[in-house]
Amino acid sequence: MSELKKEILRLKTEKNALIMAHYYTREEIQEIADFIGDSLALARKAAQTDADIIVMCGVHFMGETAKILCPDKRVLVPDMAAGCSLADSCDPEEFAAFVAEHPDHTVVSYVNTSAAVKAHTDIVVTSGNARKIIESLPEDEKIIFGPDHNLGEYINSVTGRQMLLWNGACHVHDRFSIEKILEMKREHPGAKILVHPECRRPLQMIADKVGSTAALLEFAAADDAREFIVVTESGILFEMRNKCPEKVFLPAPAEDAECQCNECDFMKLNTLQKVRDALLNEAPEIHVDPAVAERALRPINRMLELS
Ligand code: 13P
Ligand code: SF4
Repeated sequence: MSELKKEILRLKTEKNALIMAHYYTREEIQEIADFIGDSLALARKAAQTDADIIVMCGVHFMGETAKILCPDKRVLVPDMAAGCSLADSCDPEEFAAFVAEHPDHTVVSYVNTSAAVKAHTDIVVTSGNARKIIESLPEDEKIIFGPDHNLGEYINSVTGRQMLLWNGACHVHDRFSIEKILEMKREHPGAKILVHPECRRPLQMIADKVGSTAALLEFAAADDAREFIVVTESGILFEMRNKCPEKVFLPAPAEDAECQCNECDFMKLNTLQKVRDALLNEAPEIHVDPAVAERALRPINRMLELS
C-alpha cells in the first residue's frame, strides 16, 4: 500500500472519519473508501453514520445533502470545485419563479440540485427511487419535475404521468451518441445495453436496462449475458469489473472521439492527495445556510420515508 493511502487510513481512524465515494470517482478513491454507492445510498449512509467527520468524494450537491442530513457533523469535500453541470442547469431563482407560476403542482426535484433548489421542493428523488416515489402519488396529482429533462421523460414514459419538466441536462449523459452505441451492438450482438436515465430518450428506448448506477450494477451481476455496453460515466466500470470479473464491460463512447466525454470531470477532481489534505486540514468544509437547510431537509426526509 502506498504511503499516501496509509496516511489516509491513519488520519481517518484518528479523526473518526468516514470516507464515502460515488461510483464515478477514480479507482484509487473507490479503493480507500469505507462506503461506495449511488446518490441514494450515499444519502442513506450519511443519515445513519456515527462518524464525526464525513469525507464526501463525489460532487458538491452530495456533500450538501450529507450536511443537511447531519448538521452536527463536519462534512468535508476534497475539492470545492467538484460541481455538477446538471445541478448548475437549474438556477434557484428561475426555478422558484417556475414553481410560483404553477401553484397547484407538487414539486419533485432530482437530488442533483443545490440546497437552494431543494428548499423550493416538496419531494427529492434520485434515479434509484424516482419511479417508485412518483407512482406513490395520486394519479391526478399535477407534478413539476426538475432539473433533468431526460430522467423526467423516462419517468413520464414508464408511469404514464405528464409531469411538467424543467429543461436541464448532464453534460456527460446528454452526449452519448445512439449511432455509436448501435455500431457497438452490431459488433457485440450478444451484449446487453445498460443506460442511465440521464441519457436521451432514444438511448433509453434501446436499453435492456435503464437504471441508477446501483441498479445497473445489480442488473449486470444477476443477468446471464457475458458482455455489457455501459452507457453512463465510465467510473462505474471499476465496481462492475470487481463484482463480476468473469463478465466483459464495454464503456460507451461519447459523441466526440477526441475528448473523454464519458468521464465526469467534476467527479475526477477527487484525488488521493486531496482526500489526505482534507483529512489533515479538516477543510474544505461544506456549510449550508441554516434557514435553507431547514427547508431543504423536509423534501429529503420525505424521499427517505417514501423509498
Ligand atoms: P446515481 O443516482 O445513479 O448515482 O447518479 C448520480 C449522478 O450524478 C448521475 O450522473
Ligand atoms: Fe453531475 Fe453529470 Fe457529473 Fe453526474 S455525471 S455528477 S449529473 S455532471
